[in-house]
Amino acid sequence: MSTTKKVAVVTGGNRGLGFEASRQLAKLQYQVVLTSRDEAKGKAAADKLQSEGLDVTFHPLDVTSDESSQKLAEFISQQFGKLDVLVNNAGIYIDEQAGNDSVFDAKIDTVQQTMETNVYGVLRVTQALIPLMKKQNYGRIVNVSSGMGQLHDMGGGYTGYRLSKAALNALTRIFASELQGTNILVNSVCPGWVKTDMGGANAPRTPEQGVNTILWLATLADDGATGGFFRDKKAIDW
Ligand SMILES: NC(=O)c1ccc[n+]([C@@H]2O[C@H](COP(=O)([O-])OP(=O)(O)OC[C@H]3O[C@@H](n4cnc5c(N)ncnc54)[C@H](OP(=O)(O)O)[C@@H]3O)[C@@H](O)[C@H]2O)c1
Repeated sequence: MSTTKKVAVVTGGNRGLGFEASRQLAKLQYQVVLTSRDEAKGKAAADKLQSEGLDVTFHPLDVTSDESSQKLAEFISQQFGKLDVLVNNAGIYIDEQAGNDSVFDAKIDTVQQTMETNVYGVLRVTQALIPLMKKQNYGRIVNVSSGMGQLHDMGGGYTGYRLSKAALNALTRIFASELQGTNILVNSVCPGWVKTDMGGANAPRTPEQGVNTILWLATLADDGATGGFFRDKKAIDW
C-alpha cells in the first residue's frame, strides 16, 4: 500500500488525547497509524474510528521497547515509504499512585519508570522513525509535554512526572537544534488540563479542546516554529 496522503503516527492512540489526535488528523485527511502497546485496545480504537469513516490503521507500539519501535519503522517503510507526522503522546503519571512523596522521599523506581516511558520512549521512537522524515526532508514532530515540566514555574511533588516533562522539553530543543535548516519541525505542547483517564473527571478541557494545539503543530507550514513550547497556540516559558 502506498499513499499520496500525509502519513501520521500517534503513540498511545488507544485512549485519551492520543485517540482524539488520531481522529482529528484522520479528519484532516492524514493516513493515521494509531499505535498502542495493547493490541486488543489499539485495534478496538482503530475500529471505532474506521466505523466513523476515517482512514486509520492500527500497529502495535510499546515505546519502552527497541524491538517494537523498529518493527513500527519497518511497517511504515514497507506500507508507505515515508512519515510526515509523529505525535509523541504516550505517557505515564504514576507519582500519585506511588504516594506522590516529597522529592526527598520520592521512589527512585517510580522516577526511573516514568523517565523510561516519557523521555527515553520518545527518544527511542523518534530515533527509529526519523529516517522516514529525513529521506523526504519533511516532518512535524509534536512532543506532548506538560506545564508541570516548566522550570520557570516548577513546584514540588510529582517528581517523576515533573522531571520527565522537563527532560522531554530538553529533548525537543536537542532534536530541533540538530534538525535546524531542514523542513522537520519539532515542538513541545502543553495540552492544558484535560478530561482523560490521566487528567481525571474534574479537568476543565475536553479531549477535543486538548488536541487543538497538537493538531496545529502537526500541520505547521514550512515557515512554522521549531524548538518551541506552546499552549493554546501561544509560546510559553520553558
Ligand atoms: N490529561 C491531561 O490533563 C494532560 C495534561 C498535560 C499533559 N498530558 C500529557 O498528554 C499525554 C496523553 O495523556 P492522556 O491524558 O491522554 O493520558 P491517558 O488517558 O492516561 O493515556 C495515556 C496513553 O499512553 C499510553 N502508554 C503508556 N505507556 C505506554 C507505552 N510504554 N507504550 C505505548 N503507549 C503507552 C497508554 O496506553 P495504555 O492504555 O496501554 O495504558 C495510553 O494510551 C501524556 O503524555 C500526558 O503526560 C496530559
